[in-house]
Amino acid sequence: MGKHVLFYILLVLIPGLITSDFVIEQFRNIKKRNAADVHTKGIEIYWVKIDCKVTSRFSRNVITSRAVNRANVSKEAFFDVELPKTAFITNFTMTIDGVIYPGIIKEKEVAQQQYQKAVSSGQTAGLVKASGRKTEKFSVSVNIAAASKVTFELTYEELLKRSFGKYEMFIKVNPKHLVNKFEIDAHIFEPQGISSLEVEGTFINNDLLPVVKKSFSGKKGHVSFSPTIDQQRTCDNCTTSLLHGDFVIKYDVNRDSPNNLQIVSGYFVHFFAPKNLTYLPKNVAFVIDVSGSMYGRKIKQTRDALIKIVEDLKEDDHFNLILFESRVSTWKDTLVKATPENVNETKQFIETIIAGGSTNLNDGLLTGIEMLNIAHKNGTVPERSASLIIMLTDGHPDGSLQRIHDNVQNAIQGKYPLYNLGFGYDVDYAFLDKLAKENNGLARRIYEDSDSALQLQGFYDEVANPLLTEVTLEYSENAISDLTQNSFKHFYDGSEIVVAGRITDNDLNVITTEVKAHGALDDLTFFEQADVEETAKALEDQEYIFGDYIERLWAYLTIQQLLEKRTTATGYEKTNLTAEALEMSLKYKFVTPLTSMVVTKPEDNAEKEAIADKPIEGTYAAYKSTAYQSTPTYHSYTSVDGDPHFIIAVPQKEDALCFNIYEDPGIVLNLIRDPVTGITVNGELIGDERTSNDAAPHNTYFGRLGVVNVQLNLKLEVTPQKIILHRGSKQMTFTWFDEVTLQNAGLTLKIIKKKSLEVSMGSGTRFTVILHQAWNKNRVRQDFLGFYTVDSHRLSEHTHGLLGQFFHPIDFNILEVHPGSDPEKPDATMIVKNNQLTVTRGWQKDYTEDVRHGTNVPCWFIHNNGEGLIDGTYTDYIVPSLF
Ligand SMILES: *[C@@H]1O[C@H](CO)[C@@H](O)[C@H](O)[C@H]1NC(C)=O
Ligand SMILES: *[C@@H]1O[C@H](CO)[C@@H](O)[C@H](O)[C@H]1NC(C)=O
Ligand SMILES: *[C@@H]1O[C@H](CO)[C@@H](O)[C@H](O)[C@H]1NC(C)=O
Ligand SMILES: *[C@@H]1O[C@H](CO)[C@@H](O)[C@H](O)[C@H]1NC(C)=O
Ligand SMILES: *[C@@H]1O[C@H](CO)[C@@H](O)[C@H](O)[C@H]1NC(C)=O
Ligand SMILES: *[C@@H]1O[C@H](CO)[C@@H](O)[C@H](O)[C@H]1NC(C)=O
Ligand SMILES: *[C@@H]1O[C@H](CO)[C@@H](O)[C@H](O)[C@H]1NC(C)=O
Repeated sequence: MGKHVLFYILLVLIPGLITSDFVIEQFRNIKKRNAADVHTKGIEIYWVKIDCKVTSRFSRNVITSRAVNRANVSKEAFFDVELPKTAFITNFTMTIDGVIYPGIIKEKEVAQQQYQKAVSSGQTAGLVKASGRKTEKFSVSVNIAAASKVTFELTYEELLKRSFGKYEMFIKVNPKHLVNKFEIDAHIFEPQGISSLEVEGTFINNDLLPVVKKSFSGKKGHVSFSPTIDQQRTCDNCTTSLLHGDFVIKYDVNRDSPNNLQIVSGYFVHFFAPKNLTYLPKNVAFVIDVSGSMYGRKIKQTRDALIKIVEDLKEDDHFNLILFESRVSTWKDTLVKATPENVNETKQFIETIIAGGSTNLNDGLLTGIEMLNIAHKNGTVPERSASLIIMLTDGHPDGSLQRIHDNVQNAIQGKYPLYNLGFGYDVDYAFLDKLAKENNGLARRIYEDSDSALQLQGFYDEVANPLLTEVTLEYSENAISDLTQNSFKHFYDGSEIVVAGRITDNDLNVITTEVKAHGALDDLTFFEQADVEETAKALEDQEYIFGDYIERLWAYLTIQQLLEKRTTATGYEKTNLTAEALEMSLKYKFVTPLTSMVVTKPEDNAEKEAIADKPIEGTYAAYKSTAYQSTPTYHSYTSVDGDPHFIIAVPQKEDALCFNIYEDPGIVLNLIRDPVTGITVNGELIGDERTSNDAAPHNTYFGRLGVVNVQLNLKLEVTPQKIILHRGSKQMTFTWFDEVTLQNAGLTLKIIKKKSLEVSMGSGTRFTVILHQAWNKNRVRQDFLGFYTVDSHRLSEHTHGLLGQFFHPIDFNILEVHPGSDPEKPDATMIVKNNQLTVTRGWQKDYTEDVRHGTNVPCWFIHNNGEGLIDGTYTDYIVPSLF
């Protein structure tokens, strides 16, 4: 297996959809909850406003929600918003009884440290985050006192993308309650003029239709929707709300207008989507996974989609189907023209496709690429045509990812965009994304659902109509800098190319653009120019929605592109890209994958912090960012503590693995055994003190630890009461009340009163034992011990034991993260020691820093007593006695 690399991904190419969805729920006080409480009226949301302002496709959306606690006790108010994956949060504030609690955007690691601090001081801060098809969730809750009011205000920004000839704002509404005043208010300002404006809503019935107000004229458009509380009801006297679903605003601009080049305050943006172009014929290699995992509904949906897709091919198009499983088969040997006869024939062929075998993606893709190469070389496809590869897979490819990556890149050589469609959650999406991006394409996830075939067709439709190839956009030389991406492999009908940059020459009067591209009939050059002063003035006359919007649009695009480049970069280049993207995210206050927003909120006379992070599509990294793992102060030692949970530090991944062992009290487990240095560590389990007749299983802990060093002829016995050192026939006993440092021929013992014991045996072998005393004497729990390996590098490579086997570097690959049964804890497929395991993202406590509360260490949890991770089974580690 090649090295598995993790990538940060930003799906910038998904059409810009906006969803918001919010709810404030009544807090259910766990302690006092009874049947009556659940229905008690407490928090009332009385005002919800979604305010959208769009200037030149750049939208700023402010969602405000006001609530009051009408109960006579404090209650928790929740604020949940779904926003598009392509949006960046830029601001969040809470106002409670006139006091403002702002969200502050910080570098992610700094934010995480603060979060850790909040957690270790015993408070449970946190925001629920989840990623849907097109949206991600922002969620925060706060306790508000009786008769108090709270206002939540969230702002996010996004560049709307043109797709199928429309810019689309997609607002998913779900207040869950009737709201006294509910309002959506959208103002659109487009210097080119608005040519169409539509509103659709899945929940808009005939009664609500007149409530939707829309109008546009010239450069301005307006949409508003504010149903009264009675109009919100599902029926006359009902208390349930109709407002549940999608509210979509679609518009387009006048593309004859010259105002597609806009300049404000030293920044410019150029929107390029020329009219009246002729379609280019296209040559498509459909590379389709027909491996065993596609069996059933997926292969049927794929067949259905392919039939529709080939029916939609134009007669000048060329195509072929390449099917891969363990082997590769093709419909025809070469690309063929999409004549009605050929389409008829391929439809019959598609009906016969069945699934079986493994996933030889490598040969599938190479066959497709070679077919395009031959078609071009042999002149079987028109000289002026657009070639592309559409690949669909639902699983993990056979063989080394690195090899596939290198082979594909060498074969394509930048000639054809590669579009990777990942079907379902078992794909290695990060890999597909990187592979596609490095080859001028993009990856898209096809969600496994009843509409999967439609999703496939929808993707095809986006690339079905190429208009130009090899598009390059140049601007006034020497007067421009910090240009965003300005060359594009293909330009598809219904889309738009956006380039922004900074004007460095203050005296520049005129910006000129020169766009070169290959068209269907000939090579094209488009010249445009805009007078800086005139353009700025024309825009100034307008009441700006936000004055610096072009600069922010430029920053948004630049950050997106830096993050994208970062997915494919390595080493120094990646560091540099990260630094640049971070600097800009902080400067422009965007919550991107590199930044977090910290909100300090009042809670029971203390303050606690919550963090908003940006989830990332389909990768382990998504959870990496939301699970607050990998803090710079990474201090997880390979250790065992608590009930007993084992934490295996994997420093090269800045991550950890964890598992529990369930055994009976009295059992002794071998933790470390090194035949070379003669060091052995064993631990004996104790259980909770039982209350009478308690049939529930024991929680177990380590109640006694034994350390043997044969070479030094010593034995150390540690219990929560005593520390006994046997050296030859001599014996020394200490208690946990001693504060002692003992240094003696190769051994150092350091007792920190009632806290911990450090044991060093020469340089390079150091353990810490943590004493846990039952704080609450009413509890059944006994005092117990935790064991941490601080340094193990002197131990030999033959070291074994439940902990010792992990002192050698261990590698693992997380292949696909997917939702688990607990929404907070995703599951994933892990490859470790040649085993494929289903693991769960979770947290375990490390008590080295804070004995009382511990610090959360995020880790991948291996179920069934570490089965598949540990050598053999856990019973192999049971030993007869402590020494
Ligand atoms: C709060 O209101 C409930 C009924 O609504 C009442 O039973 C209770 O005594 C009140 N508590 C206080 C502290 O006023
Ligand atoms: C964030 O929103 C609050 C409330 O509207 C506002 O006072 C503050 O200036 C905003 N912060 C930024 C950086 O825009
Ligand atoms: C709604 O409630 C009022 C008062 O309870 C009642 O008079 C009216 O008939 C109800 N309307 C419907 C449609 O049930
Ligand atoms: C559009 O293209 C056609 C030929 O393809 C041409 O005759 C016509 O003049 C063009 N219209 C414009 C506005 O350029
Ligand atoms: C394609 O097949 C349909 C029905 O199977 C038939 O009616 C039609 O004539 C065929 N077209 C061509 C061009 O072969
Ligand atoms: C190239 O085209 C010729 C004639 O059409 C054909 O005989 C030959 O097999 C083609 N070569 C390949 C590699 O397909
Ligand atoms: C990234 O590298 C370029 C040149 O290689 C340098 O000019 C730039 O300052 C670097 N950026 C950062 C943030 O280090």
